[in-house]
Amino acid sequence: MSNTQSSVSRPIIDVKDLVEVYADGTKAVDGVSFNVEKGEFFGFLGPNGAGKSTTIKVLTTLLRKTSGSISIAGYDIDKDPVAIRKLIGVQSQDTSVDPELTGRENMILQGNLQQMHGKELKERVEQLLEVVGLKDAADKRAGRYSGGMKKRLDLASTLVHKPTVLFLDEPTTGLDPQSRATVWEYLEGLNKKEGITIFLTTQYLEEADRLCERLCIVDSGKIVAEGTPSDLKREIGADAISISMKNKQGRSDETVKAAAREIVSKMPEVVNVLDSGDGLTIYAKEGGYFIPELVRAFDKTDIALVSINLSTPSLDDVFLKHTGKRIRVEELVKDTTSGRFGGRRR
Ligand SMILES: Nc1ncnc2c1ncn2[C@@H]1O[C@H](COP(=O)(O)OP(=O)(O)OP(=O)(O)O)[C@@H](O)[C@H]1O
Ligand SMILES: [Mg+2]
Repeated sequence: MSNTQSSVSRPIIDVKDLVEVYADGTKAVDGVSFNVEKGEFFGFLGPNGAGKSTTIKVLTTLLRKTSGSISIAGYDIDKDPVAIRKLIGVQSQDTSVDPELTGRENMILQGNLQQMHGKELKERVEQLLEVVGLKDAADKRAGRYSGGMKKRLDLASTLVHKPTVLFLDEPTTGLDPQSRATVWEYLEGLNKKEGITIFLTTQYLEEADRLCERLCIVDSGKIVAEGTPSDLKREIGADAISISMKNKQGRSDETVKAAAREIVSKMPEVVNVLDSGDGLTIYAKEGGYFIPELVRAFDKTDIALVSINLSTPSLDDVFLKHTGKRIRVEELVKDTTSGRFGGRRR
């Protein structure tokens, strides 16, 4: 057996030039390279179809890569997949809880699959049920759990064998805000208190901002930005001012937007202007001072500003800058309020 601990300075996840082409020719991952340090909370952020789940499937040995190299905790994925499987935990995008079994039985089954038995397993299961707040519901069939409870059970099941690296594929998609906050707290605890390295994929920019020490933004199978959330936001170098507008006839179409864009682009304070769908996002230094100037500039025209919003740069702005689009928050919101577990996939 090769020694994992000798390579202390080596990243715990080391991915070089990863390419994944599905049988139908879809290039889901297109030359991705990144490292994750031991104990790091790392985020893989991107819209639908960006290649997040595919990357997780390859890293967790569920899918064979087309090309590139991957090592996890010093083990090469081609040579030592079994060793890798022993030290990782995976929560896939679709939960894998058995609805016929109770919460506790689900976890025991998971432990058995990982060669855990007897007292050690029992104690671990009780401890985890407590941690994810499912102690009272432990004897209820998982099929009767709410969406949030299922996700928490699924998460707890991935932890039974005490993995050192945890891969989580959108663990909070489809959860209501309260359950999401509970999962966040729990994940932070796992990372900070137990030192588990976490690789998280998410579509929630706020989630990535809150949890991840470092992240990659992926789009169409490629990494488009990488860094700590604060560095990425700082790189924007200006405040974001979102505006919507209409003309004196009450129209707010593309022509009006284009005219507004022309006005704004001529202002010396403006660093960049991007289309935000229903309006424009203007990047300007010292946004607070800029807004009165902006209002004055429109005063002289036949376009009226309907709304103005000033914010310091968010990951949303980072995403817009690098991909030219916004993650469609309304789609995600619809998911969480639909009441269907698993959001858009079910
Ligand atoms: N089994 C498959 N065969 C062919 N193409 C696939 C397969 N699975 C995924 N794809 C395609 O690969 C691309 C990446 O998909 P993937 O599921 O990795 O994206 P994702 O970032 O996880 O998206 P989401 O946010 O919707 O979960 C998409 O274009 C998808 O349609
Ligand atoms: Mg996915």
